[in-house]
Amino acid sequence: PKVAVLLGGPSAEREVSLSSGAECAKALRQAGYEVVEIDAGQDLPARLAEVAPDVVFNALHGRWGEDGCVQGVLEWLCIPYTHSGVLASALAMDKTRSKQVYRNAGLPVVDSIIVPTEIARKSHALPPPYVVKPNAEGSSVGIYIVHDGANGPPQIDDKMPSEVMVETYVPGRELTVAVLGDRALGVTDIVTDGWYDYDAKYKAGGSRHVIPADIPDDVAAACLDYALRAHQALGCSGMSRTDFRWDEARGLAGLFLLETNTQPGMTPTSLAPEQAAAVGMDFPALCAWLIEDALC
Ligand code: DAL
Ligand code: MG
Repeated sequence: PKVAVLLGGPSAEREVSLSSGAECAKALRQAGYEVVEIDAGQDLPARLAEVAPDVVFNALHGRWGEDGCVQGVLEWLCIPYTHSGVLASALAMDKTRSKQVYRNAGLPVVDSIIVPTEIARKSHALPPPYVVKPNAEGSSVGIYIVHDGANGPPQIDDKMPSEVMVETYVPGRELTVAVLGDRALGVTDIVTDGWYDYDAKYKAGGSRHVIPADIPDDVAAACLDYALRAHQALGCSGMSRTDFRWDEARGLAGLFLLETNTQPGMTPTSLAPEQAAAVGMDFPALCAWLIEDALC
């Protein structure tokens, strides 16, 4: 089949997607597919009509590419595509609504409120420590951590949306689990010097990934179980990756879901491909699996 790899796009994660898309296109060619790369702009429907792919590999991240919008275009054009559909993508991208879905599924989430950005700039919206983040972004774009004893509220950038999510900060570790089909692949412990921010995510050597994570069996089992249940509760397809915070001092009760990424990164430093490799699925095989899953 002829595959169109969608990459780039106008979101804040454009550069990440250009990297993900280039890797996936290369891997799909290695796996024997005919591949055309499309930088997703407003002429996308015209480009798709020109290329006439049998299937789309969605390598977009963030708004428009991960939130149901491009999925809607592809539904309308009757072109099969990888990863999640319209509804799961839209729900997962919205941190407030995905928390509602997790709570209904009995999954542990961190308490948070949505407040006007103006107010979060003027005074502490929660007692520190807390985190301020956009309701719908990825790759740690626009995240502020307000530590215990902070002098005042964070100086939130003018580019932030008019409302922000303010969430209780969970100390401890950052864990993540990729789900492929109906299987949770493994638990990775992400070790950084500071916060797992944009640079730590994408600079070579910016973080160390311990896989499988060196954590107690009950916590590891809970991570796998919660990630699979989150994937199913949101109605995800193909692959997703669910991120956690774990406060070791509190044992299993200190484990919380942060979010599910319906278009997990596929860059050379990304986590989901590493977990696939750890269960014996190399990168071309992973990309081919996603194409075959989209076609069935
Ligand atoms: N949002 C980035 C791409 C990730 O979750 O991997
Ligand atoms: Mg994310």
